[in-house]
Amino acid sequence: MATALVILAAGQGTRMNSDLPKVLHRVGGAPVLAHAMRAGAALAPERMIVVTGHEGGAVAAAAREVDEEVVIVEQAEQLGTGHAVAQALPALEGFTGKVLVLYADTPLIRPETLEALAASPADVTVLGFEAANPRRYGRLILKGEMLERIVEFKDASEAERAVTLCNAGLMAIGSDVLSQMLAKLSNANASGEYYLTDLVAMARAAGRSAAVVTCNEGESLGVDTRVQLAQAEASFQARARAEAQENGVTMTAPETVYFAWDTVIGRDTVIEPNVVFGPGVTVESGAEIRAFCHLEGCHISRGGRVGPFARLRPGAELAEDVHVGNFVEIKNAILDEGVKVGHLTYLGDAQVGEHTNIGAGTVTCNYDGVMKHRTEIGKRAFIGSDTMLVAPVRIGDGALTGSGSVITQDVPAGAVALARARQENKPGLAAKMFDKLKAIKAKRQNEAS
Ligand code: UD1
Repeated sequence: MATALVILAAGQGTRMNSDLPKVLHRVGGAPVLAHAMRAGAALAPERMIVVTGHEGGAVAAAAREVDEEVVIVEQAEQLGTGHAVAQALPALEGFTGKVLVLYADTPLIRPETLEALAASPADVTVLGFEAANPRRYGRLILKGEMLERIVEFKDASEAERAVTLCNAGLMAIGSDVLSQMLAKLSNANASGEYYLTDLVAMARAAGRSAAVVTCNEGESLGVDTRVQLAQAEASFQARARAEAQENGVTMTAPETVYFAWDTVIGRDTVIEPNVVFGPGVTVESGAEIRAFCHLEGCHISRGGRVGPFARLRPGAELAEDVHVGNFVEIKNAILDEGVKVGHLTYLGDAQVGEHTNIGAGTVTCNYDGVMKHRTEIGKRAFIGSDTMLVAPVRIGDGALTGSGSVITQDVPAGAVALARARQENKPGLAAKMFDKLKAIKAKRQNEAS
């Protein structure tokens, strides 16, 4: 059956104590909202609608980054979850099927759970969970197998509060039920809000069916506080580590490796302890990421060896069998097959041809304080240790730069470039200099005493 998604993201999230709307706080490097959108996208919905309110412009921009076709609907005043969904009705015009209502602040929800909700034959299906501590969640009141109604904590009797089957907030609602009943919600309750949850009792009273699909409590975690944000991050990481291992990745200390929401790692890659993946990293099979590396927005090809202590920044593209060693930073640079950058180097805005060796302490001087410039190095070149490559500059195939050179002009293919002061040796001068210095020191000590 066709599905449409309505993702509620209008709330302020006061308990985050933040200038940022709560759905823009990040888990695995992506806004919480993006996780809900991605889980929902797995259903291949006909329409995806995000309801924004608080800081709506910023929330809409983040939503469009995930899916540029997302429909944004504004809820000017936050009058409750039922009111929020009602704002999406015009955008649902003409849609027939299941409307899934998701909260943008539940980043751990799995696509499988949403599939189960969408596949439920009932007119209204609610996602429930057995709560260890039900606190202020809405309670699911069943009659036999059938869900009769949802009662919000504030409106619940003592007996209803004793129920531990709680409302996670997500629902799948037949489009006909939604269009017929949403307008009839009332706000005559303890919060003075239009509760989406009242739809269940309304549907039942009209002879429609209502059911519960359950998930575990962890999956339904909502991010309302910084503590819950950290819990969500921990759960996300645990899941990402387990998935990487299932996909054939070896981690010597998985609990010290941090993934982003979009990290892709190939089979038989080995990751040593204390490695952080920021967003946008792809690693092909059989690579080795050694301890203490920080990677973001980069690609490592088959057989790559990175670290220990390496930093790959956005636009770092490593072809097959590239070796990047310790204290090396690479940004917006393409390193062709077999390039070696062993130690203490910065390569930014650069292109390095295959099998070139970059000596220790090489720096591409890519920024003049105003503009960025490119460095292009050919194949099988040899950049001597401590070479400053003042961009824009080109080093030809097979060229060599002498250690300590400051290269300000292009070097032709096959040439040796020496750009440093010529060395002069003065025989016997060292001893004379030391004698002179000792005499100066003795004189100063005498003057001081
Ligand atoms: C809601 C449920 C409750 C459930 C709980 C699970 C209702 C009436 N109650 O309560 O049964 O146990 O979630 O977390 O639905 N939102 C809007 N516009 C609004 C109000 C809310 O977009 O006017 C969004 C919020 O941004 C949030 C979500 O809806 O993403 C849930 O709202 P929240 O106020 O947190 O609902 P609860 O009171 O926790």
